[in-house]
Amino acid sequence: MNHFAFRDNELYCEEVPVQKIAEQVGTPLYIYSHATLKRHFHAFADAFKDVDNLICFSAKANTNLAVLKLFSNLGGGLDIVSGGELYRGLKAGFSPEKIVYSGVGKRIDEIDYALETGILMFNIESLEELDSINKRAGVLKKRANVSIRVNPDVDARTHPYISTGMKKNKFGINTEFAIKGYKAAMGLKNVKIVGIDCHIGSQITEIKPFEDALKSLKLLIKDLEAYGINIKYLDMGGGLGITYNDEVPPQPAEYARAIKKSLGRTKLKLILEPGRVIVGNAGALVTKVLYRKSTGVKEFIIVDAGMNDLVRPTLYKAFHAIKPVVLSEEGEIVADIVGPICESGDFLALDRYVQRVHQGDLIAVMSAGAYGFVMSSNYCSRLKIPEVMVKENKFHVTRKRQKYEDLTKGEKIPPYL
Ligand code: LLP
Repeated sequence: MNHFAFRDNELYCEEVPVQKIAEQVGTPLYIYSHATLKRHFHAFADAFKDVDNLICFSAKANTNLAVLKLFSNLGGGLDIVSGGELYRGLKAGFSPEKIVYSGVGKRIDEIDYALETGILMFNIESLEELDSINKRAGVLKKRANVSIRVNPDVDARTHPYISTGMKKNKFGINTEFAIKGYKAAMGLKNVKIVGIDCHIGSQITEIKPFEDALKSLKLLIKDLEAYGINIKYLDMGGGLGITYNDEVPPQPAEYARAIKKSLGRTKLKLILEPGRVIVGNAGALVTKVLYRKSTGVKEFIIVDAGMNDLVRPTLYKAFHAIKPVVLSEEGEIVADIVGPICESGDFLALDRYVQRVHQGDLIAVMSAGAYGFVMSSNYCSRLKIPEVMVKENKFHVTRKRQKYEDLTKGEKIPPYL
């Protein structure tokens, strides 16, 4: 069941007309469907329920506290990449022993914060990082649980900016060096080797790259056993793609089946770090038509959301479906949907067939629940927009729209000016 659907020519999120939310909260705004978030989390978790597993939602996809709280209530863990995400995760109620920490550039203060918190494991991305974590754990009199993020050198065949598992990418440690890393870790007093990890990319729409990565991890695990290193966790990262337009990615069940099959019988606990597949299609960006104009060669629909609110179209040439919030009989035109920012890259859709709209009409930019608000900025001193969660026939503003005062918070003019 799609929780963003038309009823009597009007777009609803669950039981609430999108137009009603926009009238009360203003535009632009992000809307998330509670039922969709929950269903997607369950679909993913259920697909792995016959193996020992921990689903660590990848915070970076959507860090709204209400969204995080929902997943912590559902028993999920969290995949973080910064001290800020750890802070949010703890605020949302995740228990530290369900938090895994990846990222190539963990700062010392962030490492300390995670050590003090007592997270499940650090996914180590370089030998120097391993050394730093060992040192900080020594200083803080803690023992750090670590796994090595292996770069299995597989092509995830996705957008180059979000492909992470090839040797030319900055992520993880090559399989050749991983063994060296594990051996080094064995000799370190303040770290405990607990796992192996990989994350090969995002918006992956085929099974094969995951299978290839797992194959390479399994070989490594064998080698490790030969050296007497027995690990407990196998973290497969995230990356499963969703349908934005006409992609046909594997369903979570199919993805899980393939992973479980190539994993075979194992005592390892499987960790997964899904982000997009859980939240992507659970959210929409709602924006209002400000003006229309034609240049003779092009039709423009100028809306009140810009690239600072949703950067994916311009950054990755990403496709997001555009839907009118109220259907009409006026037919379609081909237009660019553009924002108010002074850059030609400020678009939400290019050369798109869209319903003929008018000033004041609302448009929904679909599949915006992942990497939407979290990647937004205050560029052009535009206010960050609200996030709303809809549950059945009610909605809650889970983040308020910023005010002008918020823009200058923390800024100071030196006394000589
Ligand atoms: N684990 C790690 C270590 C990651 O780096 C990522 C995403 C995930 C899990 C979650 O991946 P997912 O299941 O969402 O594919 N901003 C880009 C996506 C960047 C993904 C970065 N890493 C976009 O808007 O497409």
